[in-house]
Amino acid sequence: MTTRPAVLVARGVFPEVLARLAQHFEVESNPDDTVWSAAELSARLQGKAGAFITGSERIDAALLDAHPQLRAVCNMAVGYNNIDLDACTARGVLASNTPDVLTETTADFGFALMMATARRITESEHFLRAGRWTKWSFDMFAGAEVHGATLGVLGMGRIGQAIARRGALGFGMPVLYHNRSRLDAAIEQQLGARWVDKATLLRECDHLVIVVPYSPASHHLIGATELASMKPTATLTNIARGGVVDDAALAAALRAGRIAAAGLDVFEGEPKLHPDLLTVPNVVLTPHIASASVATRRAMADLAADNLIAALGCGPHAGRPPTALNPQVLSAPTP
Ligand code: DGY
Repeated sequence: MTTRPAVLVARGVFPEVLARLAQHFEVESNPDDTVWSAAELSARLQGKAGAFITGSERIDAALLDAHPQLRAVCNMAVGYNNIDLDACTARGVLASNTPDVLTETTADFGFALMMATARRITESEHFLRAGRWTKWSFDMFAGAEVHGATLGVLGMGRIGQAIARRGALGFGMPVLYHNRSRLDAAIEQQLGARWVDKATLLRECDHLVIVVPYSPASHHLIGATELASMKPTATLTNIARGGVVDDAALAAALRAGRIAAAGLDVFEGEPKLHPDLLTVPNVVLTPHIASASVATRRAMADLAADNLIAALGCGPHAGRPPTALNPQVLSAPTP
Protein backbone atom coordinates (compact mmCIF):
# COMPACT_ATOMS: atom_id res chain seq x y z
CA MET A 1 0.00 0.00 0.00
CA THR A 2 1.39 3.42 -0.92
CA THR A 3 1.31 6.04 1.82
CA ARG A 4 -0.61 9.14 1.02
CA PRO A 5 1.00 12.55 1.45
CA ALA A 6 0.15 14.38 4.67
CA VAL A 7 -1.20 17.92 4.45
CA LEU A 8 -2.11 20.59 6.98
CA VAL A 9 -5.25 22.71 6.72
CA ALA A 10 -4.22 25.59 8.92
CA ARG A 11 -7.61 27.22 9.55
CA GLY A 12 -11.26 26.26 9.66
CA VAL A 13 -12.78 25.56 6.27
CA PHE A 14 -15.92 24.09 4.67
CA PRO A 15 -16.31 20.39 5.58
CA GLU A 16 -16.88 19.55 1.91
CA VAL A 17 -13.45 20.96 1.09
CA LEU A 18 -11.82 18.94 3.87
CA ALA A 19 -13.60 15.86 2.49
CA ARG A 20 -12.19 16.51 -0.99
CA LEU A 21 -8.68 16.84 0.40
CA ALA A 22 -9.16 13.64 2.38
CA GLN A 23 -9.74 11.74 -0.89
CA HIS A 24 -6.06 12.33 -1.69
CA PHE A 25 -4.23 13.05 1.54
CA GLU A 26 -3.86 12.35 5.25
CA VAL A 27 -5.34 15.62 6.49
CA GLU A 28 -4.62 17.37 9.76
CA SER A 29 -7.17 20.15 10.13
CA ASN A 30 -8.00 22.88 12.63
CA PRO A 31 -11.64 22.29 13.55
CA ASP A 32 -11.55 25.00 16.25
CA ASP A 33 -10.23 27.53 13.72
CA THR A 34 -7.51 28.63 16.13
CA VAL A 35 -4.99 31.15 14.81
CA TRP A 36 -1.77 29.28 15.56
CA SER A 37 1.41 31.05 16.57
CA ALA A 38 4.40 30.67 14.26
CA ALA A 39 5.78 27.99 16.62
CA GLU A 40 2.48 26.06 16.66
CA LEU A 41 2.21 26.26 12.89
CA SER A 42 5.76 24.99 12.56
CA ALA A 43 5.08 22.11 14.97
CA ARG A 44 2.04 21.04 12.97
CA LEU A 45 3.91 21.21 9.68
CA GLN A 46 6.19 18.33 10.79
CA GLY A 47 6.05 15.70 8.09
CA LYS A 48 3.56 17.61 5.91
CA ALA A 49 4.03 17.76 2.15
CA GLY A 50 1.59 20.61 1.70
CA ALA A 51 -0.36 23.27 3.53
CA PHE A 52 -3.70 24.93 2.90
CA ILE A 53 -3.27 28.35 4.47
CA THR A 54 -4.95 31.74 4.75
CA GLY A 55 -3.62 35.26 5.09
CA SER A 56 -3.08 34.72 8.82
CA GLU A 57 -0.30 32.14 8.34
CA ARG A 58 3.14 33.57 7.60
CA ILE A 59 5.33 31.43 5.37
CA ASP A 60 8.91 32.68 5.48
CA ALA A 61 12.41 31.38 4.82
CA ALA A 62 12.94 30.19 8.41
CA LEU A 63 9.74 28.14 8.36
CA LEU A 64 10.60 26.66 4.96
CA ASP A 65 14.11 25.79 6.14
CA ALA A 66 12.63 24.01 9.14
CA HIS A 67 10.43 21.91 6.82
CA PRO A 68 12.44 20.82 3.78
CA GLN A 69 9.76 18.16 3.07
CA LEU A 70 7.17 20.88 2.35
CA ARG A 71 6.33 21.06 -1.37
CA ALA A 72 3.30 23.33 -1.61
CA VAL A 73 1.67 26.22 0.28
CA CYS A 74 -1.75 27.11 -1.07
CA ASN A 75 -3.28 30.36 0.10
CA MET A 76 -7.03 30.85 0.37
CA ALA A 77 -6.67 34.54 -0.56
CA VAL A 78 -5.73 36.53 -3.61
CA GLY A 79 -3.29 38.67 -1.62
CA TYR A 80 -0.13 36.76 -0.72
CA ASN A 81 1.94 39.19 1.29
CA ASN A 82 1.95 36.50 4.01
CA ILE A 83 4.12 34.31 1.76
CA ASP A 84 7.78 34.98 0.97
CA LEU A 85 7.44 33.97 -2.66
CA ASP A 86 11.16 34.27 -3.46
CA ALA A 87 12.00 32.02 -0.52
CA CYS A 88 9.44 29.46 -1.76
CA THR A 89 10.79 29.55 -5.30
CA ALA A 90 14.41 29.23 -4.16
CA ARG A 91 13.46 26.08 -2.25
CA GLY A 92 11.25 24.59 -4.98
CA VAL A 93 8.05 25.07 -2.94
CA LEU A 94 4.96 25.73 -5.02
CA ALA A 95 2.89 28.69 -3.81
CA SER A 96 -0.58 29.59 -5.03
CA ASN A 97 -3.33 32.14 -4.40
CA THR A 98 -7.02 32.49 -5.38
CA PRO A 99 -7.44 35.22 -8.00
CA ASP A 100 -10.52 35.82 -10.20
CA VAL A 101 -13.08 33.87 -8.16
CA LEU A 102 -13.39 36.78 -5.71
CA THR A 103 -13.08 39.76 -8.06
CA GLU A 104 -16.75 40.74 -8.47
CA THR A 105 -17.74 39.98 -4.87
CA THR A 106 -14.85 42.03 -3.53
CA ALA A 107 -15.68 44.88 -5.89
CA ASP A 108 -19.33 44.76 -4.74
CA PHE A 109 -18.15 45.13 -1.17
CA GLY A 110 -15.66 47.89 -1.95
CA PHE A 111 -18.37 49.84 -3.70
CA ALA A 112 -20.84 49.24 -0.85
CA LEU A 113 -18.26 50.36 1.73
CA MET A 114 -17.52 53.48 -0.29
CA MET A 115 -21.26 54.25 -0.52
CA ALA A 116 -21.84 53.58 3.20
CA THR A 117 -18.95 55.92 3.94
CA ALA A 118 -20.09 58.70 1.62
CA ARG A 119 -23.70 58.50 2.83
CA ARG A 120 -22.80 58.06 6.52
CA ILE A 121 -24.86 54.91 6.92
CA THR A 122 -23.27 53.36 10.00
CA GLU A 123 -22.77 56.69 11.74
CA SER A 124 -26.49 57.46 11.38
CA GLU A 125 -27.47 53.94 12.45
CA HIS A 126 -25.42 54.27 15.65
CA PHE A 127 -27.18 57.59 16.34
CA LEU A 128 -30.57 55.95 15.84
CA ARG A 129 -29.80 52.86 17.93
CA ALA A 130 -28.55 55.11 20.74
CA GLY A 131 -32.06 56.61 20.92
CA ARG A 132 -30.83 60.03 19.86
CA TRP A 133 -33.24 60.51 16.92
CA THR A 134 -35.87 62.94 18.12
CA LYS A 135 -36.68 64.93 14.98
CA TRP A 136 -36.00 65.12 11.22
CA SER A 137 -33.63 67.93 10.27
CA PHE A 138 -32.68 69.30 6.87
CA ASP A 139 -28.97 68.63 7.34
CA MET A 140 -29.09 65.50 9.46
CA PHE A 141 -26.29 63.15 8.31
CA ALA A 142 -26.07 64.94 4.98
CA GLY A 143 -23.21 63.20 3.19
CA ALA A 144 -21.44 63.34 -0.13
CA GLU A 145 -22.95 62.60 -3.52
CA VAL A 146 -21.89 59.31 -5.08
CA HIS A 147 -23.45 59.38 -8.56
CA GLY A 148 -21.60 61.75 -10.83
CA ALA A 149 -18.79 62.29 -8.29
CA THR A 150 -15.21 61.51 -9.31
CA LEU A 151 -14.11 58.01 -8.37
CA GLY A 152 -10.40 57.53 -7.72
CA VAL A 153 -9.00 54.02 -7.89
CA LEU A 154 -5.52 53.41 -6.50
CA GLY A 155 -4.31 50.08 -7.93
CA MET A 156 -5.99 49.02 -11.15
CA GLY A 157 -5.79 45.22 -11.14
CA ARG A 158 -8.81 42.99 -11.59
CA ILE A 159 -10.66 44.27 -8.50
CA GLY A 160 -9.82 47.90 -9.26
CA GLN A 161 -11.20 47.49 -12.77
CA ALA A 162 -14.39 45.87 -11.44
CA ILE A 163 -14.88 48.83 -9.08
CA ALA A 164 -14.22 51.32 -11.87
CA ARG A 165 -16.81 49.55 -14.03
CA ARG A 166 -19.42 49.83 -11.29
CA GLY A 167 -18.71 53.52 -10.84
CA ALA A 168 -18.62 54.45 -14.51
CA LEU A 169 -21.48 52.32 -15.83
CA GLY A 170 -23.73 52.16 -12.78
CA PHE A 171 -23.28 55.58 -11.23
CA GLY A 172 -22.08 57.85 -14.03
CA MET A 173 -18.83 58.56 -12.18
CA PRO A 174 -15.81 59.92 -14.01
CA VAL A 175 -13.01 57.52 -13.06
CA LEU A 176 -9.39 58.47 -12.40
CA TYR A 177 -6.88 55.79 -11.56
CA HIS A 178 -3.26 55.39 -10.65
CA ASN A 179 -1.32 52.20 -11.14
CA ARG A 180 2.33 51.37 -11.87
CA SER A 181 1.35 50.26 -15.36
CA ARG A 182 -1.34 51.84 -17.52
CA LEU A 183 -4.23 49.79 -18.88
CA ASP A 184 -4.58 49.30 -22.62
CA ALA A 185 -6.31 52.28 -24.22
CA ALA A 186 -9.24 50.04 -25.22
CA ILE A 187 -9.80 48.93 -21.60
CA GLU A 188 -9.46 52.51 -20.37
CA GLN A 189 -12.12 53.50 -22.85
CA GLN A 190 -14.42 50.64 -21.87
CA LEU A 191 -14.13 51.61 -18.19
CA GLY A 192 -14.20 55.33 -18.89
CA ALA A 193 -11.05 55.50 -16.76
CA ARG A 194 -8.18 57.97 -17.06
CA TRP A 195 -4.64 57.31 -15.75
CA VAL A 196 -3.21 60.14 -13.66
CA ASP A 197 -0.20 60.43 -11.40
CA LYS A 198 -0.76 59.73 -7.71
CA ALA A 199 -0.72 63.40 -6.69
CA THR A 200 -3.41 64.27 -9.24
CA LEU A 201 -5.50 61.28 -8.20
CA LEU A 202 -5.46 62.35 -4.56
CA ARG A 203 -6.09 66.01 -5.35
CA GLU A 204 -8.97 65.49 -7.78
CA CYS A 205 -11.00 62.48 -6.64
CA ASP A 206 -14.13 62.68 -4.48
CA HIS A 207 -14.05 59.03 -3.41
CA LEU A 208 -10.75 57.18 -3.27
CA VAL A 209 -10.85 53.37 -3.23
CA ILE A 210 -7.55 51.63 -2.46
CA VAL A 211 -6.94 48.24 -4.04
CA VAL A 212 -3.14 47.94 -4.30
CA PRO A 213 -1.41 44.77 -3.08
CA TYR A 214 0.71 45.18 0.06
CA SER A 215 4.48 45.10 -0.37
CA PRO A 216 7.35 47.07 1.14
CA ALA A 217 6.85 49.48 -1.80
CA SER A 218 3.21 50.14 -0.90
CA HIS A 219 3.80 50.45 2.87
CA HIS A 220 2.14 53.70 4.02
CA LEU A 221 1.46 54.74 0.44
CA ILE A 222 -1.18 56.95 2.05
CA GLY A 223 0.06 58.91 5.05
CA ALA A 224 -0.35 62.37 6.53
CA THR A 225 1.03 64.21 3.47
CA GLU A 226 -1.18 62.35 1.02
CA LEU A 227 -4.27 62.81 3.20
CA ALA A 228 -3.57 66.53 3.46
CA SER A 229 -3.56 66.78 -0.33
CA MET A 230 -7.09 65.35 -0.66
CA LYS A 231 -10.30 67.41 -0.77
CA PRO A 232 -11.74 68.02 2.72
CA THR A 233 -15.01 66.60 1.35
CA ALA A 234 -13.34 63.42 0.03
CA THR A 235 -13.73 59.88 1.35
CA LEU A 236 -11.15 57.08 1.47
CA THR A 237 -12.01 53.38 1.32
CA ASN A 238 -9.35 50.72 1.96
CA ILE A 239 -10.09 47.12 0.94
CA ALA A 240 -6.46 46.31 0.07
CA ARG A 241 -4.34 45.53 3.10
CA GLY A 242 -3.59 47.18 6.39
CA GLY A 243 -0.24 48.90 6.12
CA VAL A 244 -0.99 50.51 2.76
CA VAL A 245 -2.60 53.31 4.78
CA ASP A 246 -0.96 54.82 7.87
CA ASP A 247 -3.90 54.24 10.23
CA ALA A 248 -2.63 56.68 12.88
CA ALA A 249 -2.34 59.45 10.29
CA LEU A 250 -5.77 58.54 8.92
CA ALA A 251 -7.42 58.71 12.35
CA ALA A 252 -5.81 62.12 12.92
CA ALA A 253 -7.00 63.36 9.51
CA LEU A 254 -10.54 62.14 10.18
CA ARG A 255 -10.62 63.78 13.60
CA ALA A 256 -9.32 67.06 12.20
CA GLY A 257 -11.75 66.98 9.26
CA ARG A 258 -8.92 66.96 6.72
CA ILE A 259 -11.01 64.41 4.79
CA ALA A 260 -14.73 63.78 5.31
CA ALA A 261 -14.84 60.07 6.10
CA ALA A 262 -13.23 56.68 5.62
CA GLY A 263 -14.38 53.10 5.10
CA LEU A 264 -11.91 50.43 6.25
CA ASP A 265 -12.08 46.68 5.84
CA VAL A 266 -8.38 46.10 6.57
CA PHE A 267 -6.08 47.39 9.30
CA GLU A 268 -2.44 47.55 10.28
CA GLY A 269 -1.89 44.76 12.80
CA GLU A 270 -5.43 43.36 12.43
CA PRO A 271 -7.43 41.99 14.14
CA LYS A 272 -6.20 44.74 16.49
CA LEU A 273 -7.14 48.26 15.41
CA HIS A 274 -5.47 51.57 16.04
CA PRO A 275 -7.48 52.72 19.11
CA ASP A 276 -8.18 56.16 17.61
CA LEU A 277 -10.12 54.55 14.77
CA LEU A 278 -12.63 53.32 17.32
CA THR A 279 -13.31 56.77 18.67
CA VAL A 280 -13.64 58.86 15.50
CA PRO A 281 -17.26 58.85 14.32
CA ASN A 282 -16.72 59.36 10.59
CA VAL A 283 -15.32 55.95 9.79
CA VAL A 284 -17.08 52.76 8.74
CA LEU A 285 -15.24 49.69 10.06
CA THR A 286 -15.62 46.08 8.90
CA PRO A 287 -13.54 43.01 9.86
CA HIS A 288 -11.77 42.07 6.58
CA ILE A 289 -14.86 40.63 4.89
CA ALA A 290 -14.70 42.07 1.37
CA SER A 291 -14.66 38.63 -0.26
CA ALA A 292 -17.05 37.09 2.25
CA SER A 293 -20.10 35.96 0.34
CA VAL A 294 -20.83 32.29 1.01
CA ALA A 295 -20.43 31.36 -2.65
CA THR A 296 -17.18 33.25 -3.08
CA ARG A 297 -15.57 31.93 0.10
CA ARG A 298 -16.50 28.43 -1.07
CA ALA A 299 -15.01 29.12 -4.51
CA MET A 300 -11.81 30.41 -2.88
CA ALA A 301 -11.56 27.33 -0.67
CA ASP A 302 -12.18 25.02 -3.63
CA LEU A 303 -9.53 26.78 -5.69
CA ALA A 304 -6.96 26.59 -2.88
CA ALA A 305 -7.76 22.87 -2.55
CA ASP A 306 -7.48 22.36 -6.33
CA ASN A 307 -4.06 23.97 -6.20
CA LEU A 308 -2.90 21.76 -3.32
CA ILE A 309 -4.22 18.57 -4.93
CA ALA A 310 -2.57 19.38 -8.26
CA ALA A 311 0.69 20.63 -6.74
CA LEU A 312 1.14 17.30 -4.95
CA GLY A 313 0.57 15.41 -8.19
CA CYS A 314 -3.04 14.29 -7.67
CA GLY A 315 -6.42 14.93 -9.29
CA PRO A 316 -7.32 15.95 -12.83
CA HIS A 317 -4.81 18.85 -12.92
CA ALA A 318 -1.91 16.82 -11.45
CA GLY A 319 1.28 18.85 -11.78
CA ARG A 320 -0.60 21.89 -13.10
CA PRO A 321 -2.07 23.85 -10.18
CA PRO A 322 -4.56 26.27 -11.74
CA THR A 323 -3.37 29.47 -10.06
CA ALA A 324 0.25 28.83 -9.13
CA LEU A 325 2.34 31.91 -8.32
CA ASN A 326 5.63 30.21 -9.17
CA PRO A 327 4.73 27.37 -11.59
CA GLN A 328 8.37 27.23 -12.69
CA VAL A 329 9.23 25.25 -9.55
CA LEU A 330 7.28 22.27 -10.87
CA SER A 331 9.46 21.90 -13.94
CA ALA A 332 12.75 22.85 -12.27
CA PRO A 333 15.12 20.20 -10.90
CA THR A 334 14.75 19.87 -7.11
CA PRO A 335 17.14 22.40 -5.51
C1 DGY B 1 -7.74 38.17 -0.10
O1 DGY B 1 -8.21 37.28 -0.79
O2 DGY B 1 -6.60 38.62 -0.26
C2 DGY B 1 -8.62 38.69 0.99
O3 DGY B 1 -8.11 39.86 1.53
C3 DGY B 1 -8.83 37.64 2.05
O4 DGY B 1 -7.60 37.45 2.71
